[in-house]
Amino acid sequence: MDAGLAKQRIAQLSDEIRKHNHNYYVLSQPTISDYDFDMLLEELIRLESLFPEFREADSPTQHVGGEITKEFRQVVHQYPMFSLGNTYSENDIRDFEERVQKIIGKDVEYVCELKFDGVAISLTYHNGRLIQAVTRGDGVQGDDVTQNIRTIKSIPLRLQGTGYPPHFDIKGEIILPRASFENINQQRIEDGEEPFANPRNTVSGTIKMLDSAEVAKRNLDCYLYYLQGENLPFQTHYDSLMAARSWGFKISEYIVRCKTVDDIFDYLKMWDHERHNLPFDTDGIVIKVNAFKQQDLLGFTAKSPRWAIAYKFKAERVSTRLTSIDFQVGRTGTVTPVANLEPVLLAGTIVKRATLHNADIISFHDIRVGDMVFVEKGGEIIPKIISVDLSQRPPELNQFHFITHCPECGTLLQRQENEAAWYCPNETSCPPQIKGKLEHFISRKAMNIDSLGEGKVEILYDNKLVLNIADLYDLTYEKLIGIEKIYFSTDEKKEKRISFREKTVSNILKGINASRDIPFERVLYALGIRFVGETVAKKLAFHFGSVDALINANKEHLLEIEEIGEKIAESVLKYFANSESLELIQRLKTARLRFEIEAAAKTLKSNNLEGMTFVVSGVFEQFSRDELKKTIEEHGGKNIGSISSRTSYLLAGNNMGPEKRKKAEKLNIPIISEESFLQMLK
Ligand code: IVH
Repeated sequence: MDAGLAKQRIAQLSDEIRKHNHNYYVLSQPTISDYDFDMLLEELIRLESLFPEFREADSPTQHVGGEITKEFRQVVHQYPMFSLGNTYSENDIRDFEERVQKIIGKDVEYVCELKFDGVAISLTYHNGRLIQAVTRGDGVQGDDVTQNIRTIKSIPLRLQGTGYPPHFDIKGEIILPRASFENINQQRIEDGEEPFANPRNTVSGTIKMLDSAEVAKRNLDCYLYYLQGENLPFQTHYDSLMAARSWGFKISEYIVRCKTVDDIFDYLKMWDHERHNLPFDTDGIVIKVNAFKQQDLLGFTAKSPRWAIAYKFKAERVSTRLTSIDFQVGRTGTVTPVANLEPVLLAGTIVKRATLHNADIISFHDIRVGDMVFVEKGGEIIPKIISVDLSQRPPELNQFHFITHCPECGTLLQRQENEAAWYCPNETSCPPQIKGKLEHFISRKAMNIDSLGEGKVEILYDNKLVLNIADLYDLTYEKLIGIEKIYFSTDEKKEKRISFREKTVSNILKGINASRDIPFERVLYALGIRFVGETVAKKLAFHFGSVDALINANKEHLLEIEEIGEKIAESVLKYFANSESLELIQRLKTARLRFEIEAAAKTLKSNNLEGMTFVVSGVFEQFSRDELKKTIEEHGGKNIGSISSRTSYLLAGNNMGPEKRKKAEKLNIPIISEESFLQMLK
């Protein structure tokens, strides 16, 4: 095909596919068959691969995914992400109304919306294009998950219609419809993986996946509920959402305006019942003051707006018989009692098991095997036992005694003062604890050996090839080839076997080998020392510089470090006082893992900007350009002179050349202010 024609056809196909995506995923009103749609998409993918120069930066083929992310960049929210005050009672809603009226007077209109039970997201649009998608994180800064979010087909990559502000943020919730959740879990069970607990957890796991093509397969959806920007051309929240709908965003159909508390209660009562008929989870309703001027008058507390409140639905409750109690040992050795129940219908699903949390709860409610118990379902797939129906207790039931020994390895259980849980202290040879340690070791933020994920470490453990983390580095091709996993296929209703083939084995060995380059602070985190999370590991690594210095540290040395308290210090000391830990570290050293901060990093103030590249341009208020560049390097970042697709941020001051800005916008490179940059260092 000639280039001119190709260019034209690519533009035409892109437009058409955008329109069909909106019809299908936002309006639920497709106007062509799935087959015809696939044909259009395939044609576009093919033409884009032949003529990449004509591919639009926001082409609808991005919904297919394919970009691999190595690490999610932290981004400071331009508008922090607040949470909402929660209530479970109608009286609290009356109190809310009173508080509002005290400040505003009687003339207030409210908007009632569903409270989506998913994962909050902040989308940034610049000149009608999606440029960034960031998770809530701690409310101030979150993970840049733009590549993954681009795969969600109901999120417009390019806006339609007119009147949208040149730059704005829109916040909403990524959700997973229940039917898609069940399909994913079905597949996971067949693949021998742990099923996800609920749709919300699945969403949060999915948006952090590294391969966006995998995310694209998961059928995520997104409702938007909060538009933010400078000088928005709207007087009310409601109008802003209706406008956002006209630009192509998916806005809930069930938003209503209310004048009185009674209108609010009508909405609430209807949805307490009707929510079970929705294809996705909602956990309440949100009530917002409609007029922006009134919202401004009410303002915010430290955590949430005073102009909105969330009413959470009460969980549904039924009674059934407790037939037996099992015990599960978790990754940290905690023993959790689990109740087996006579199957009962609860909130649309049949319930057979419920968590009992811990021994105290069992004795507090005097729960006995054979009792009729009340079971409740909150957001979790596994419901909870709330109480015993004592009026139905058969006279012969014995008091329940918690187990004294670990059901997995037989070790005498222990309990720490002030802690409710019993735990198995046999960290080094209790099977679920070893598996947990191995899984932590290979996880993304630790050694990032993803070729061992998805149940493969478990297979290695079950085949006795890997009994601790150091054993991973003794694996060879000969040991791995042909090892088998037996699983139960629910489709064929029989046991099946799969064995490791050449490709799997070579990927595993490659992954393990690559982990030798992981820097010391992550190796330290990967060891899985109790209370030593990512941040603490970084602090310890940078403070001591090497594992040997850390091993030799005493309590005073440890407590000198900011944010390291008694609990962490004691756990670190205990870990290194154990000869088995020292032996493990010796073996890992022999395997050539990094146990020292790299020479280049020794002079760093932090590695907050590690892996990021900056272009600094313009005139700044607090620092000179050179000072900012130096700061970037001191925190592990790199400076570059010109913008390319590999630039992480354009740090923009006043009077920056328009060309730089244009180029950054074209390549979707986030443009940040001096203020946001300084936030990143915190
Ligand atoms: S408005 C400034 N509207 O609930 C307030 N939030 O605890 C912005 N949520 O983090 C939030 N549905 O993830 C708003 N219709 C809705 C919502 C909603 C769900 C979530 C959101 C937020 C949390 C608040």
